[in-house]
Amino acid sequence: MILTSSGVEVEHDRKRELKAFDDSKSGVKGLVDAGITKIPPMFIHPQYNLNAKSGSAVSQFRVPLVDLDGINDSATLRAKIIDQVREACENWGFFQAVNHGIPASVLEEMIDGIRGFHEQDTQVKKEYFYKRDFKEKVSYFSNFDLCQATVATWKDCLSWAMAPSPPDPTELPAVCRDIVMEYSKQVKRLGCTLFELLSEALGLDVNRLKDMECAEMIFPAGHYYPPCPEPELTLGARRHTDSRFLTVLLQDQVGGLQVLHQNQWIDASPMPGALVINVGDSLQVITNDRFKSIEHRVLVNRVSPRVSVASAFGTNLFPSSKLYSPIKESLVTQENPPKYKEATLQAHVAYLRGKRV
Ligand code: OGA
Ligand code: NI
Repeated sequence: MILTSSGVEVEHDRKRELKAFDDSKSGVKGLVDAGITKIPPMFIHPQYNLNAKSGSAVSQFRVPLVDLDGINDSATLRAKIIDQVREACENWGFFQAVNHGIPASVLEEMIDGIRGFHEQDTQVKKEYFYKRDFKEKVSYFSNFDLCQATVATWKDCLSWAMAPSPPDPTELPAVCRDIVMEYSKQVKRLGCTLFELLSEALGLDVNRLKDMECAEMIFPAGHYYPPCPEPELTLGARRHTDSRFLTVLLQDQVGGLQVLHQNQWIDASPMPGALVINVGDSLQVITNDRFKSIEHRVLVNRVSPRVSVASAFGTNLFPSSKLYSPIKESLVTQENPPKYKEATLQAHVAYLRGKRV
């Protein structure tokens, strides 16, 4: 909205602005490269969305930290780690994991690879740009929901699907090809370990969640949040929950991710070598709300670009016709009846989204 001097509200030509942005095929990074000092109206978020920028500085809360070292060394240690995972998933829906088995060098190279992609020559990037139909395995775009959302967010993204089969390496941008393949393989393996721990944390057979196809596919996204001249007016990611079962997030050391905990926004502060793990809507449904899918968002800053890689775990096909309901063993009891009927994951996610707005 633009307020004229006479006080009459005039709709700015939003559609034209969106189209021009889309047609530029240069993303948010392109705006910053062009030297803008004010952000375009399409990125300005209503203030009520941005309030309560509390952060950890003013809160006693910290996102739980779980050290996975020794999960296969001793039964006692494994049981202790499983307790920590359970507590984090029940109370926070989020935790940071260290000693997860992915070497620090792979994490660093992955961040560098994704940054390298986004910071390479715009002309080269444009080759991958704007797969708005998302039919291809590898897509490069800014704001996947550009046309549906009321406000755009301050980020660009490179995404690749690993299922039903991984992309041919040549489909990936040359600048990050090798590390993307390597990281995807390692994160998939970590996901399997995490679903084993989560199954045990729920009192289920170790393979129960994997057997439900929770770790079947990863859909990773390499985000790039350019520095922003007016960071107080926009967001890198709106408050949202993740729709799939679980997300493994690799972030660089810049910071900006916040988790909503007891109605306060808490920083998920970067820690060298750590990965952020969070429960998604689909896991909340099948655990009958025992594990929580919690809202989170990303703030942007004036100075540094930020890079993150979110790998969501889900079923092979999405949408899929497979039906899901809360797991009966140990999660559904007389005192704790099922909170969801049997339905597709898409229907469950839509229901939860509807409840949250
Ligand atoms: C996401 C997400 C956070 C980040 O991709 O769903 O919440 O820090 N990303 O990039
Ligand atoms: Ni998310």
